[in-house]
Amino acid sequence: MIVDGKPYLILGAQINNSSSWASTLPQVWPALEDIHANTLEAPVYWEQMEPKQGSFDFANVDLLVNGAREHHLHLVLLWFGTWKNGQAHYVPEWVKTEPQKYPREVSAYGKILDVLSPNSGANLEADRSAFVALMRHLKAIDGAQHTVIMMQVENESGSIGAVRDYSAAANQQFEGEVPSSLTEALHTPKGTWSKVFGADADERFAAYSTTSYINQVAAAGKAEYALPMYCNVWVTYPVHALENRDHASPGQEYPSGGAQQDNINLWKAAAPAIDILAPDFYSSDHAFYHQIIATYDRPDNPLFIPETLLSKDFGSNFFYALGHGAIGFSPFGIDYTHWTLADDKIPAHLSENFALFRPMASEVAQLNFDGKLQTAVEQAGETRQRLHFEGVDAIVSFGFPQRDGEQPRGTADLSGRAMVAQLGTMEFLVTGFDASVSFELATAPGAKLRNEQIEILRAEEGQYVKGAWQSSRIWNGDQTDRGLNFHRGNTSVVRIRLHSLPLYDESMRLRPQQN
Ligand code: DGJ
Repeated sequence: MIVDGKPYLILGAQINNSSSWASTLPQVWPALEDIHANTLEAPVYWEQMEPKQGSFDFANVDLLVNGAREHHLHLVLLWFGTWKNGQAHYVPEWVKTEPQKYPREVSAYGKILDVLSPNSGANLEADRSAFVALMRHLKAIDGAQHTVIMMQVENESGSIGAVRDYSAAANQQFEGEVPSSLTEALHTPKGTWSKVFGADADERFAAYSTTSYINQVAAAGKAEYALPMYCNVWVTYPVHALENRDHASPGQEYPSGGAQQDNINLWKAAAPAIDILAPDFYSSDHAFYHQIIATYDRPDNPLFIPETLLSKDFGSNFFYALGHGAIGFSPFGIDYTHWTLADDKIPAHLSENFALFRPMASEVAQLNFDGKLQTAVEQAGETRQRLHFEGVDAIVSFGFPQRDGEQPRGTADLSGRAMVAQLGTMEFLVTGFDASVSFELATAPGAKLRNEQIEILRAEEGQYVKGAWQSSRIWNGDQTDRGLNFHRGNTSVVRIRLHSLPLYDESMRLRPQQN
């Protein structure tokens, strides 16, 4: 992610759904400051923005842009258009009340759903022209200043209530052939949807209908103002182990047709105007989190977590995503409207992470982009991890106290986490929580003996100020003797220079033993 020519790490905060209003924004800004975010993710409501067809009210958008500037934040705007969590709650009244003109999805049993049909040209045209108007307005007010850095097109798209639209018009499309552009991209034989996709035909048809629609909305918006665009995803969560089935039900347990794990290839093929498919993550299952990161971190898909829980795992999950090259990470529900945050307070486990990274967000983004950055995150039963860099290994041990001769004890809540980035052959930028970090020369594969050792030349605590490193003190003694020690509540960043020297004085080692 490059903003104004410089790498940018999104330390995001998404506000509650009904918070992009003049009456609630005063409760937004202090929360964003307290969590040390550099980017606000805020919704734009189609119903508010186009109360009458063709007549636009950008008051809320302008408040967001002006407020973000005043508070030194960038903005990611979330287009709550045709889809919001698999339903059509944010479409304007003139759309809601005219289902003949703006057709709804119909279930297999004929029920009219609270979802606009993605198989309708009229729906597409209405959404697209509103989004185009929004992008035109943003270009006019912000094209020179770049407060808004990215757009989310729709919100958790797909349909709740049916696996696909069963209206007569959609059925007719479903009976036809899968477009050859899609079969070619997915390397499948040609044929009807049922023939090509078998049991998954309905969901794949829904995905193709949804993604083609959104692609056209995004492409038309980009033609006005070419900001990066992404779609956030309601992922498919594991079904309970005791239930005798292996997959959640599309259209019931998640919106059918969204870019959930099994639909990524299809979405990538059919929505070139969407730059990122970004998983929302609302679970405390660590193994599942790692799976989701592995699934969405692809050469054709930058990793971005646009929404996540405020749980205790926040810090570890942030470090984990960063270690997999994430361009950004954002908790959901950050404002003081008495909604998501208990007592309208930002807990320390949320704010400490961004507080540490905000001053060096650009440097961290660059190091990550260059492949120089790694993270270690404590896992159950694994209190020590080794990170391999060019020539040097970093050994990260979790939990304190750390006693000589004992294995590190880990932490009770698995809060240990560290970031190590290689600045030069023997120079590293290091930080973390509940962790110590020490260095060893990397042992060549197959080598039996190590002939060199490593020493600290200098370990400076400090911070980056406008791109320049400023040292505040030198760490030594207890702060460095058993590794660089980053305790709970840490706010330190350390730049360490090492050097190597031979392990033995060869003349002594070879001296014949004396009686
Ligand atoms: C995911 C949605 O994208 C958000 O808008 C919000 O509804 C959250 N879920 C609520 O938990």
